[in-house]
Amino acid sequence: MMRVAALAVVFLTSLGLVVSGKVFQTLSHLKPQYRDAVQTAAVQDLLHRLIGDRADEFLIYVNNSLTDSDGLDAYQLSSVGEKVAVVGSSGVAAATGCYSYLKYYCGCHISWSGVQLRVPSPLPLVASPVTVRTPNRFRYYQNVCTSSYSFVWWDWARWEKEIDWMALNGINMPLAFTGQEAIWQRVYLSLGLNQSEINEFFTGPAFLAWGRMGNIHTWGGPLSSSWMLKQLSLQNKILERMRSLGMITVLPGFSGHIPQSLLRVFPKINVTRLGGWSNFNCTYSCSYLLHPEDPLFHTIGGLFMTEIIREFGTDHIYSADTFNEMCPTSSDPAYLSAISSAIFKSMVDVDPGAIWLMQGWLFVNSPSFWKPAQIRALLHGAPIGRIIVLDLFAENMPVYQSTESFYGQPFIWCMLHNFGGNHGLYGQVDSVNTGPFDALAFNNSTMVGTGITPEGIEQNDMIYELMNEIAWLSNPLNLTEWISSYSTRRYGLENTNAQSAWQLLLESVYNCTQSWKDHNHSPLVRRPSLRMNTDICYNQTKLFEAWMFMYYATPYLADSSTFLYDLVDVTREALQQLVTEYYKEIRVAYLNEDLEKVMTAGGVLVYDLLPELDNLLSSQPQFLLGRWLEAARQMAVTEEEASLYDMNSRNQITLWGPTGNILDYANKQFGGLVQDYYKERWSLFLWCLIESLNMDIPFQQDLFNKAVFSVENEFIYNGKKYSSTPTGNTIEIVKNIFIKYYPIARKFTSY
Ligand SMILES: *[C@@H]1O[C@H](CO)[C@@H](O)[C@H](O)[C@H]1NC(C)=O
Ligand SMILES: *[C@@H]1O[C@H](CO)[C@@H](O)[C@H](O)[C@H]1NC(C)=O
Ligand SMILES: *[C@@H]1O[C@H](CO)[C@@H](O)[C@H](O)[C@H]1NC(C)=O
Ligand SMILES: *[C@@H]1O[C@H](CO)[C@@H](O)[C@H](O)[C@H]1NC(C)=O
Ligand SMILES: *[C@@H]1O[C@H](CO)[C@@H](O)[C@H](O)[C@H]1NC(C)=O
Ligand SMILES: *[C@@H]1O[C@H](CO)[C@@H](O)[C@H](O)[C@H]1NC(C)=O
Ligand SMILES: *[C@@H]1O[C@H](CO)[C@@H](O)[C@H](O)[C@H]1NC(C)=O
Ligand SMILES: *[C@@H]1O[C@H](CO)[C@@H](O)[C@H](O)[C@H]1NC(C)=O
Ligand SMILES: *[C@@H]1O[C@H](CO)[C@@H](O)[C@H](O)[C@H]1NC(C)=O
Repeated sequence: MMRVAALAVVFLTSLGLVVSGKVFQTLSHLKPQYRDAVQTAAVQDLLHRLIGDRADEFLIYVNNSLTDSDGLDAYQLSSVGEKVAVVGSSGVAAATGCYSYLKYYCGCHISWSGVQLRVPSPLPLVASPVTVRTPNRFRYYQNVCTSSYSFVWWDWARWEKEIDWMALNGINMPLAFTGQEAIWQRVYLSLGLNQSEINEFFTGPAFLAWGRMGNIHTWGGPLSSSWMLKQLSLQNKILERMRSLGMITVLPGFSGHIPQSLLRVFPKINVTRLGGWSNFNCTYSCSYLLHPEDPLFHTIGGLFMTEIIREFGTDHIYSADTFNEMCPTSSDPAYLSAISSAIFKSMVDVDPGAIWLMQGWLFVNSPSFWKPAQIRALLHGAPIGRIIVLDLFAENMPVYQSTESFYGQPFIWCMLHNFGGNHGLYGQVDSVNTGPFDALAFNNSTMVGTGITPEGIEQNDMIYELMNEIAWLSNPLNLTEWISSYSTRRYGLENTNAQSAWQLLLESVYNCTQSWKDHNHSPLVRRPSLRMNTDICYNQTKLFEAWMFMYYATPYLADSSTFLYDLVDVTREALQQLVTEYYKEIRVAYLNEDLEKVMTAGGVLVYDLLPELDNLLSSQPQFLLGRWLEAARQMAVTEEEASLYDMNSRNQITLWGPTGNILDYANKQFGGLVQDYYKERWSLFLWCLIESLNMDIPFQQDLFNKAVFSVENEFIYNGKKYSSTPTGNTIEIVKNIFIKYYPIARKFTSY
């Protein structure tokens, strides 16, 4: 503990330096709405939720005059007698100060997978007052997909925890997309659609993100009126809490996608019918894009904005993505400028202070369309300083560098990190550690913030904590030192085996430098074939060694819930790699027509390894299929609705669409799913290979695909209940697996 505290002083005092990026006067009105006293009370309440009465030992003040002339947030820590004073320029800044103190003076830790909150008594002294100022105005959070992959079934209790996490981690600009369908419904009804047309348009809850972006419609729907009402009331609570903590919330704007039935009411409007998206045909895709220069665009945009502001109030920033993964019909720069100008006008005519937030994903996704002239034209359709671009995947493919810093529009450097909410240890630590500083130092940089934009959360806690800390620093961290202190805080005990494990993870799974867009393509979670991609972006030996060190740490850290979570996660990753190794053995044996070897390796895979993995996952709450499904059912008010939500939640993580349109994109490693989905299809694959060798007929992938589709679809409708409470003793399970498979893992790596 002392070592951590000593380190902290060095850390924190070296941070006074302010690096000032370009200051956009156009953004100066983006600031907390509520008075300092309201924000102060909100942070006090947060601290009480976190540490109970110990919160009374803190003196919390929000004082806006701590904000500097560039609008940059800061917090100050000091000891006042036995108490610790935390002053923040906003509620978020004060909450960040609290967490910084809890981390670096008290050795505590807060994460999605658990907390370690043994606060020393009395509170450790802050020897001399410390001031920390962030170099950027905004810390953004969320991807438009997060609402479907992670938040879809959340109740207020879970949202409250998340908003606390945001404040503690310094997030001051969160997306607030919940409940927008209720607003859209009002708008469409006022335009003359009837209820059945609206029901036919909205997707089910687990697919709303893509409905909102115009990628798909109808699939998984309809939305019930109780769903809409619940989400609306949730959104009002969410916004109230976010604003009371001083966050600047981002509301949805109108991007031009409309229901087909609007053509019934307005047959003469100018629309483009887009093509099918991601293997969807026009039954559920090919949405209609209203031309932004059509007068109706302005009407709908105006109605929507007016209604959303009436219902939710506003912080003057709106998110709209017209061309996400779908290219415009013309690449003429004049056309592209006209489009963005019309979109912006529809915002600004309702809210003169409107700022348009745009995901920069399109530039990454379709570089052949979005050449410099096209990007410049789109971005210059609104005045400089009125669009903020999210450089969405900047840790991997930063766009600011090739666009002269988005041609003068402000941007936010974001770590995307996760696709589809996949489990799988992964990260690009070096890029996260240096990227934001390089972006700020870039010639004529227009960077105004940092952010995290994962498609799904509740995985890889470490990389998010790292990114959130970096948002408040002025120089990169020494990662070797940081990871050791992380390990100690996370488990509440300094343990050299755990530290060694983390160091090895940092050098392997968290140091992937190649571009892996859809990163968990492990054979484990993909439909089997003889041509599966088995590449990985890290040194497998280091992963297995990290597993060994985690195992050695078990006797000392068995009381730590975050340790048990990590023990499962690292063991899971090791087993995922073993699946790949067995798959390679099976493939080689099959190609050599060695039936016995196919059966031996296949037998281990299907009858031992995968069941063991399922047991392992079933022993910790965060890895349960049952929790995901139960959360879905709990949102329903009728049995019919419950069945629909059950289908939504199972389909999203497996087939993703009626026919496996985006098959396994949002794969998860859940206890229950491994047993009844992944294992079942591996079993069928093996059976087909054996039959092929026995009968001397070639393995036919297309026949297998047809057969395995029934297995996959069967899982979605099997009606089986899965436990939402963990079963089995994690440590015993890991011990058995380790003793059995660690020597095999070493054998595989010694090739
Ligand atoms: C806020 O800080 C300013 C400047 O330090 C100080 O003058 C003022 O009294 C503080 N306000 C409160 C309510 O403490
Ligand atoms: C909604 O409008 C469509 C098209 O006119 C019509 O077929 C349908 O019956 C209407 N539904 C209701 C509930 O009025
Ligand atoms: C519809 O918009 C396109 C794109 O600007 C334009 O070329 C076309 O003339 C418009 N059609 C009508 C009927 O206004
Ligand atoms: C489109 O997809 C739907 C749903 O998967 C399917 O029922 C339909 O047959 C497909 N239509 C065409 C034209 O392929
Ligand atoms: C900035 O531009 C100058 C010349 O315009 C160049 O010499 C310098 O290397 C550039 N700096 C960076 C960080 O790109
Ligand atoms: C930076 O901006 C200035 C003023 O617009 C311009 O003269 C200069 O060329 C820019 N530097 C670079 C490296 O783009
Ligand atoms: C980081 O810290 C370690 C351990 O204290 C030290 O050995 C190493 O030299 C440091 N690295 C850098 C780049 O300062
Ligand atoms: C990541 O790998 C690169 C080489 O690919 C190496 O230079 C760097 O030090 C590694 N970073 C960490 C944190 O291990
Ligand atoms: C992988 O890691 C092991 C253990 O640290 C090391 O001995 C080996 O040289 C590494 N392999 C490569 C290719 O870097």
